[in-house]
Formats: sequence, C-alpha cells, structure tokens
Amino acid sequence: MNIQISDSVKYIGVDDTDIDLFESQYEVPDGVSYNSYLILDDKVALMDTVDIRKIDDWEENLKRELAGRAVDYLVVSHLEPDHAGSIKRVIELYPDVTIVGNAKTFTMFPQFFEISLEGHSLVVKEGDTLELGKHTLSFYMAPMVHWPEVMVTYESNEKILFSADGFGKFGAVLTENEEDWACEARRYYFNIVGKYGASVQQLLKKTAGLDIEMICPLHGPVLKDDLGYYIGLYDIWSSYKPESKGVLVAYASIHGNTKKAAEKFAEMLKDSGEEKVSLFDLSRDDMAEAIEDAFRYDRMVLVAASYDAGVFPCMQDFLNHLQSKSYQNRTVGIIENGSWAPTAGRTMKSMLEVMKNITVLEPMVTIKSTLKEENMSALMELVNAVTNAGINIV
Ligand code: FEO
Repeated sequence: MNIQISDSVKYIGVDDTDIDLFESQYEVPDGVSYNSYLILDDKVALMDTVDIRKIDDWEENLKRELAGRAVDYLVVSHLEPDHAGSIKRVIELYPDVTIVGNAKTFTMFPQFFEISLEGHSLVVKEGDTLELGKHTLSFYMAPMVHWPEVMVTYESNEKILFSADGFGKFGAVLTENEEDWACEARRYYFNIVGKYGASVQQLLKKTAGLDIEMICPLHGPVLKDDLGYYIGLYDIWSSYKPESKGVLVAYASIHGNTKKAAEKFAEMLKDSGEEKVSLFDLSRDDMAEAIEDAFRYDRMVLVAASYDAGVFPCMQDFLNHLQSKSYQNRTVGIIENGSWAPTAGRTMKSMLEVMKNITVLEPMVTIKSTLKEENMSALMELVNAVTNAGINIV
C-alpha cells in the first residue's frame, strides 16, 4: 500500500513490524510506523527522518521520491531517536542540507550527534516561516508534546499540519488494517504523551486558528477526513476528562482468589446495569492497555491481594504508572484481600491520595483469603456506590 498525500507532498515513512517493544516497554502487536515526509517545491524539505532500525527502507523511499534531487531543508520536529535516528545519513547524502529546528533542538542536538552544523542550521521560533516556493512552512513550538524541543509545522498551501508525536498511533500503516483509529491512538496517547496534558491543551489552542485539511503525524495514518473527531478526542484526553461512561476493574491476584472476587464484582456490576465493564489481570494483561482504560472510563475499581505489608507488586506498578501519567478526576472503589493482616487497601488508598481530584468510594471491601457469603452485602454496597457514581457523557 502506498500512502498518497499530494503531487508535491510525499509519504516516505516505514513500518517496523519486527520491533519487540516500542520504547523498550510497549507491546506493539501490529508494529509501529515511523513517518517521514518530503515536500517537493523549488526547494525540497524533508520532514523528519526515521528510527535507524529502518534506515535502509526509508533511504530507498527518500531517493525514489527525490528522483535525483537533493534535500535543501531537514525540518526536525522532535529529536527522539525514533524520528531523528537517520539525521546523520541525510547529512552524509546531502552535505549542503540546512537543518531546521528551534533553539532547544540545537541545544540537544550535540547530545545525540557529534556533527558540526556550522553554516548548516536554521533556528526558527514561534510563528517563523520558511518559503519553499508555492509551499510555506510556519513553525509552532510544542514543548513537552512529548519532549521539550518538539515543534509542529503548518504548510499553508495544502493546509497540512505536521503534528510530530501528536495524533500518533501504534500500528503499521502500510499494511491493510481496518482497526478503529482511537483504540491504538488512545493507548499511544496516554502512555507516551499522557503526562503532558496541559502542553497538549496549549498546542490545541495555538493551532485552533489554523485552517487544517490534513494532519501528518510521526506515527500512524495520515488523517484527512473528519478532523474534528480526532481533535475532539485529543481535547478530551488532554484535559483528563473521561471519554466514556464505564468501569475499569483491575485486579492483582496471587493464587486466583482475588481474581475470583474481581470477576464476581464485574459480573455484579453488569447485573446492576453497567453497560461497560473492562476487566484486567494486571499480572498478565497489557499494562499499557489497562492505563488506557483507566483514563478512558469515569470509574475504576482496584482489587488486590496484600503482599509484604503492602500491595501485590503489579498493582503497585499500575498505580505508580497512573500517578506518573497524571491520572486524575476519577472515582475509585477498592477491594482488598489478605489472609492475616490485610494491607492492600490502605496502601492503594495512600497511593491514590497523592493524585489530583480522586474520590475513593465507601465502603472499602475486605476479603479474608477467599470471597464468602459474608462478604456479599459489602460487595453489593460497593456495586451500588460505583453505579451511583457513574456520570453521563454525551
Ligand atoms: Fe515518536 Fe516522542 O517520539
């Protein structure tokens, strides 16, 4: 499959389907793309490079589309190695190229590359423009979306926003994939950019006045239709509002008894009319997906075994992740299990207390080793509390 943009703007990105873990932590069963674009005009601008893992495929695409021309400008939106990994090769191939970045780009550049850019760099700041011929690039700083040097570029002739990591998504793009965009874009957003919601909000405000017909991100598909849908989701996600009414039930079980309690609780929630209940085994399921669902829904119930006078480690890990991603504005229920002196509940509660605007529901339910009839009334009370706390989202 070839990604068509226009006669002058070419997609020259690559898919990485043999990477084991993106950023050495995220499962990417459908791979990931490293997007790179060429704008062919009187001057040729290359919009970012790709991870060095795929340099050969990318170089082939680059040379094919250049058809013998040279690159005049290399615009560096983001210095993270999944995009900047092949910069050195551009300089080797096109020694007259000018590297375009902002002041922070060039502060960080020598940390990654021992290359002198003397006479070969162009420092841009907010609102600066660069004429290529018919195409004009304008630069907008987007610090902490997802690194401090990030900037986005707007091309006014074809109304394209080159959005860096923003609007990116896990998954290869050159193979047929009918998957709903939001699914892997949401997992990508909350795990990669989620901590920096305020920065994303600033960028959305900054670009709201631009007439955008196409978004070209650094990962995932080029977005052409119904841009309001994608921008609307980014607005919800970056403002830490729940996207959907639903309950994430996340459990951490050692021998399966806590799992049984979580499954029973999820079943009771459904029987009480909850339409969306998402159940996660934190020991085995994808942690990044559990984090995605924690942000997606308005409520969460944590079910965990006690361990070493605290909580079973995968739950601790999950809560640490949520805190680092700025989890906030949600309602949470707690079910703890313990065989002699349960400690999971108070540990989870104290970890939630440092997060912003979290309401912990009463009652906190305590199970001793296995779920029994005597626990059912407290469990039902918590089901009612969770159900009553649900908010309607339009
Ligand atoms: Fe896709 Fe932050 O790099």
